[in-house]
This record gives sequence, structure tokens and C-alpha cells, in this order.
Amino acid sequence: MARHLITSALPYINGIKHLGNMVGSMLPADVYTRFLRQTGREALYICATDEHGTPAELAAKEAGLPVAEFCAQQHEAQKAVYDGFRISFDYFGRSSSAENREITQHFARQLQKNGFIEERAIRQVYSLTDGRFLPDRYIVGTCPHCGYDKARGDQCENCTRVLDPTDLIDARSAISGSSDLEVRETKHLFLLQSKLQGEVEAWIDEHGKDWPVLASSIARKWLTEGLNDRAITRDLDWGVPVPADTWPELAAEGKVFYVWFDAPIEYIGATKEWAGQDPENRDWKSWWYEAEDVRYTQFMAKDNVPFHTVMFPATELGTREPWKKVDYVKAFNWLTYYGGKFSTSQKRGVFTDTALELLPADYWRYFLMAAAPESDDSSFTWEHFAATVNKDLADTLGNFVNRVLSFSRKRFGDAVPVGLEEGEAEAQLGQQIAELLLEYERHLEDLQFRKAAQALRALWSAGNSYLETKAPWLEIKTDPEGAALTLRTAMNLIHLYAVVSEPFIPATAAAMRSAFALEDGTAQKRATWVTQDEAKSLTFVPAGTPFTVPPVLFAKITDEDLETYRERFGGSEEA
Ligand code: MF3
Ligand code: ZN
Repeated sequence: MARHLITSALPYINGIKHLGNMVGSMLPADVYTRFLRQTGREALYICATDEHGTPAELAAKEAGLPVAEFCAQQHEAQKAVYDGFRISFDYFGRSSSAENREITQHFARQLQKNGFIEERAIRQVYSLTDGRFLPDRYIVGTCPHCGYDKARGDQCENCTRVLDPTDLIDARSAISGSSDLEVRETKHLFLLQSKLQGEVEAWIDEHGKDWPVLASSIARKWLTEGLNDRAITRDLDWGVPVPADTWPELAAEGKVFYVWFDAPIEYIGATKEWAGQDPENRDWKSWWYEAEDVRYTQFMAKDNVPFHTVMFPATELGTREPWKKVDYVKAFNWLTYYGGKFSTSQKRGVFTDTALELLPADYWRYFLMAAAPESDDSSFTWEHFAATVNKDLADTLGNFVNRVLSFSRKRFGDAVPVGLEEGEAEAQLGQQIAELLLEYERHLEDLQFRKAAQALRALWSAGNSYLETKAPWLEIKTDPEGAALTLRTAMNLIHLYAVVSEPFIPATAAAMRSAFALEDGTAQKRATWVTQDEAKSLTFVPAGTPFTVPPVLFAKITDEDLETYRERFGGSEEA
């Protein structure tokens, strides 16, 4: 059986991410990984912060911190949020790690050895005041086409024309504002992707067949346009240094690799960081090198697809070493905020840390996956969020659990009641649950998260229908033994829900599981998945099992809450 390697796109270090970032990477990766683990498959889920590059340097500067310190702090801050969301990484690393430096340099040496790297001289703007070369986007000035005075060296935001920094009138440094600039010649390493085009194409022909259209179409588009040779070094202080043994001159000048070169390599680097925590029992290389038994699934938003389907595979191929390449690319569209962009600067939309201050993670997890931008962009609105939480989580699941357990305790005490043997209605229910479960599993297996959420909701609904039909609150008057059977069956459904809802709502699942004091302690263990036979017979919690009634699982979002949220975060009128 295959081992599963899972990665989600590395969140950039410069700040806390918004919900749109979460839904397109870590959250679905976590749902999938939890499902794999629960169904008994070996899975390794690796992620990390992406820490190099100019935006990190500038953000550190703004925060008044040395960049290394800034990144260390931000890494902890992001990690705390992901813990809050119950993202169950096996390891959450840092692209600035020694492990990544070493592997990145190794990749570069291999590429050099195989003739895929070339040194080229380019002309670049140097700021004497800042004492550094400036990336195009950190040069600002007046647009020669429209006169906009804050045009960037790569593009004018106002008229959208693509620019060269030398086109700008009154060019100045975006860092210091200084106009003491000059064009200097400097050498950089170029990755000769054009030489790898054919191989990448062949690789995608073979491996991209089953990828979702979103991923394969973007990959194809890039290949059709042709792979250009790209500069893979930068003049920055913060990054993986160019190794002196191979490029003494560039190393002496302090060149580092471009952030997009070392970031995907950190998937490997972070695996090595993980293994380093327990070297006796963990082996990073078997996951990445000659790893034929590994099935590798990547999660990312669509803007990341070209890097993962074309550029990183090209890099891997160019090493001429058997590095593991992605098997399945799960790509997502955008989650919008009322049809517009989530925007930090305009304070529109919800950030992941704030989301957790408002409501527990499971509310967000369920909603985001049920509304995941899979086949198209999807829009976050508070109205949609509240309606989903209230209907699916509070009414359909939460209310079922509380109603069943409170009513049974009131009538039959603190243990699962004995009552009649299972009859026709229970057999039918078991059959229906087994079928829905199969459907749910299929969607999870296929990484169809919206459909999986629908199937999960259908499982919860089936319990409600059974309860409505049997109406134990009426049965109790004429047939108490029958009522006991109904409640016992419903409790078995609760246990089943606790197990199979875990990928989506892990904290609630744990609360539901621990409602029953099962003798063998299974309630405390990571719940193993439900078999078809178990689903049909619904006898997980035998009569006599003590139980407690958990506090209300999901509180409803009221109209007043809604009003407050809209006011605080911006609502439809600004879209
Ligand atoms: N940090 C990048 C982003 O936020 C994603 C990097 S993914 C990696 O878009 F694979 F390159 F690491
Ligand atoms: Zn312009």
C-alpha cells in the first residue's frame, strides 16, 4: 500500500493570512490527511513558512526588527493560528532552516553540473543610499504613459502598462525614497528552463492526466507559452547563500537564491527538519528519494500552480537525481469577500487569527470546506456563513446530539438504554447510513471537498429523519421499550458521526466521542474509521455504556451577531 506524502503551499512569512489562504491550502490538506490516517493509511503532512525574499526584509524593517528575529516571531504567530485551526501537520518547518539551505545548495550544484545553470551579466538599478540593488518593484516614479506618480518599476498600477525601471521619470527607491540611483552591471545565475521544456512536457503528459482541470490547464498554458530561462539569484541579505565552492565570485558578492527557488525545496527541507527531531525513528529521504511507494499530493491556490507543476518539476528533473515529484495537484480558485478581494490594507475580510477570536475553529472549518472554491471562485458572505452554521452545524448536528442525549438521560438515566432489539426501521436506517458513508468516502478519496461536506450533512440529516419518524418523545408514552431502542440507535449514530466528522470538525468530534465512556477506552483514542458492516448494524455503544451530555456543540449566529460582523469587517455595500 502506498504511503501518502501531503504538502500545502508554504504560507509567506510577512503576516497572518486571511481565510482565503486557509481554504486553498492547509485546511483541505488537513481534512484529507485526517481521512487518510483514520482509514489506516500512512500519511505525512508537511508544511512550513516561506521566509526569504524582499517582502520579508521590508516587513521586518517596518516592524523595526532584524529580519531573522522578525521571521522567528512571525513563524510562531502563524503556527499558533494553525494550531488553533487544528491543522494536524506532522511538521511545520521554516524555509530559513539549515536543512533547507543545504538541500537548496545541493540542488543548485547538481543543476550546474548538468549544464542547467548559466552565469549571465544583467544591468540592474543600484541605490547608493540603500547600499543595494533594488528589485524592479521597489523602484517608484512617474509613469511616462499616464503621469501617475507612484508607478512601480515593473508596472504602472494606474494604466496597467508594463514598465522597465529605466522608463520611470524621477525614479526613487521605495525603501528609502532616495533618488541617488544608478544602473550597474551585475552577474546572476540563470536556470535554463528552456533546455528542460521537452522533459517537463513529457512528464506532464504522463503524470498530469488525472490532475483536476484547473491544475493541468494552467500547466499546459505555461508550457505552450514556452519556458524562459530565469534568474534564480538576488542581491539580498536574507536568503540561501550561493555556495562559495561552486560560485566563489557570486558568493563573495553576497548573492542569495531567489525565494521561489528555495521555497518548494523546503518541502524536502521541512521533512528533514521533521526527521531531525527523532532521528532514530524517522527517515526523511525515503519519502523523497527513489520513493516509488509514495503517493505525493500537493494543495495550493491557483496562482501557485505554475511553480508547482512546471518550475519545481523542471528543477527536480534537472538535478538528474530521482527526487519525488508530485502525483496529484489539488488546486483551488479564489475565495472572495462579497465578490471582491480580501484586502489587508482596506481592512476587508477576515483574517485567520481574528476568525478564531470570534468563533471556534470547527465553525470555520466546516463552512470553508462546504463552500470551498473548487470548480469556481466562491464568495464569503456573513449571511452565507451564518446560514450554514445555523442550519447544518447547530440544527442538524448539534441539536440532534443534545436532544437525544438529554432526553434519554431524563427518561432512562446516565447509561445507554436497553430496550427492544433492532427492527425493520433500524435495518433500513443502517442500510441508508452505509450507502451515504460510501458516498462520503468516495468524495474524500477523490478530494472533492464540497461534495464530501454535502454527503456528511446527508449523514447527519438521516439521523434527524429517523428521529422524527420514530418520535421517541411520543413512543415513550405507549412503548417505552421502543423509545429506548430509538434512543440507543440514535446514540450509535452520534458515535458514528463523531468518528466520520473528524476530518471536518475535529474538536467537536472529540467532544462527541467522549460523551460515551466506552470500556476499552476507544473514545480517547484517535478514532478509526467505520466499516460498512459497522454502519449497517449501528452497535458501537452497547446498552449500559455510561454517557454524559456535552455542552451545546454549536451556538447559533444571531441577527445581532451578523450585524456586528458586517459592521466590523465590511459588508456587501463596499464590494
Ligand atoms: N509563499 C508562496 C505564496 O504564498 C507559496 C510558496 S509554495 C512553495 O504564494 F512551494 F513554493 F513553497
Ligand atoms: Zn501609467
